[in-house]
Amino acid sequence: MAGLARTGFSIDPDLLERFDRAISGKGYQNRSEAVRDLMRDYLVSEEADKNKVVAGTLTFVYDHHRPNLTEKLVEAQHQAGSQVLAATHVHLDHHNCLEVVMMKGRSGAIRDLSNRILSLQGVKHGQLVITSTGKELK
Ligand code: NI
Repeated sequence: MAGLARTGFSIDPDLLERFDRAISGKGYQNRSEAVRDLMRDYLVSEEADKNKVVAGTLTFVYDHHRPNLTEKLVEAQHQAGSQVLAATHVHLDHHNCLEVVMMKGRSGAIRDLSNRILSLQGVKHGQLVITSTGKELK
């Protein structure tokens, strides 16, 4: 186990049993990896709360026929500058488009851009996912 620290903790047996059942259903081979993932989730959430540099994707669906909406979406992304790394767009059907905007930057700026996009009339639904840039995590 070179490079790994070992630890232990006390836990209610019922809680542990429920946890083990839940993670086995998700494909985890052992409890350690599941606990490590929970710790990483916590740390990424902390990074986002402290306005650190994070990676994020905004996925949203919008009404293709809403006047000027396409221009507003492009304008918002241009204004954000280097935070926007890439965007993909697919035509879901005659009326609806799906777009995914990939970003890297301070969490506050990424949230601001996402809120600007999601609050535009004609954007039907969307969700921002914030993750790590990977630098701070093992
Ligand atoms: Ni489209």
